[in-house]
Amino acid sequence: MNQAIERVARALQRAERILIITGAGLSADSGLPTYRGLGGLYNGKTAEGLPIEEALSGPMLRRDPALCWKYLAELGKACLSAQPNAGHQAIADLQRIKPACWVLTQNIDSYHRRAGSPAERLIEIHGELEPLYCQSCGAQSDELTAHLQRPLPPKCARCGGVLRPPVVLFEEMLPEQAIDQLYAELRKGFDVVLSVGTTASFPYIVEPLLRTRAAGGFTAEINPSRTEFSQAVDVHLQGRALDILPQLLGHIRGDKSLQ
Ligand code: APR
Repeated sequence: MNQAIERVARALQRAERILIITGAGLSADSGLPTYRGLGGLYNGKTAEGLPIEEALSGPMLRRDPALCWKYLAELGKACLSAQPNAGHQAIADLQRIKPACWVLTQNIDSYHRRAGSPAERLIEIHGELEPLYCQSCGAQSDELTAHLQRPLPPKCARCGGVLRPPVVLFEEMLPEQAIDQLYAELRKGFDVVLSVGTTASFPYIVEPLLRTRAAGGFTAEINPSRTEFSQAVDVHLQGRALDILPQLLGHIRGDKSLQ
């Protein structure tokens, strides 16, 4: 494994433009549930016998806001009760060393921001949990924590409408600004794409990797399991993000203690 880590570290060291793609597996080390695989949120049905993708969908938020918010509140409480881990920190450190290192995250926990990743080089493609906004009058509310202690769904103080988080629910469109930013950076090309803790379930997650590989760039993956990506990347580092990312930074910094 050490040789493989050194190979990825060397590629990152040489690279100018880097894209780090992250998924639920990175925050699994903070104690948050992943969506698929062992213990994944989506593996079971909800108490109402629904697939979680239906309970957490845009149509459900409109049809039965209390039901949708029951599961949004579970996600929200989990994210608010934990914090970024050394994997998020290592990625923020790499972004400080490499001014053209970008993060494309599917996570809505805001842990990259909290770990110090610069907002201007962070693309949160599935949105984030705060600030809530009213679906009727658009008023914003910064009180997610307080709303999670009150009866659901949370209501707008101004007009009584139902509040929602700026996340992308199932059957909803991706945020236009995030997609535009991703494709603007993709057009410039990346020297290295590193995928961390994702099953790569969406085309906009797979495409950056395939385009970089086709253009002769270096690609790698950090995941304890094999995924769709595994046979396409130059190096698959089999293990936890929490263990591997700090080692990668240690090699990049030439820090003997971390090698
Ligand atoms: N370190 C690295 N990877 C890990 C770890 C870990 N400690 N623990 C689990 N993993 C891996 C799993 O092997 C799996 O491949 O993380 C991946 C998690 O995959 P998913 O649960 O599918 O999460 P993700 O890929 O982020 O899902 C993408 O799907 O439904 C949507 O909005 C949801 O953002 C989510 C998106």
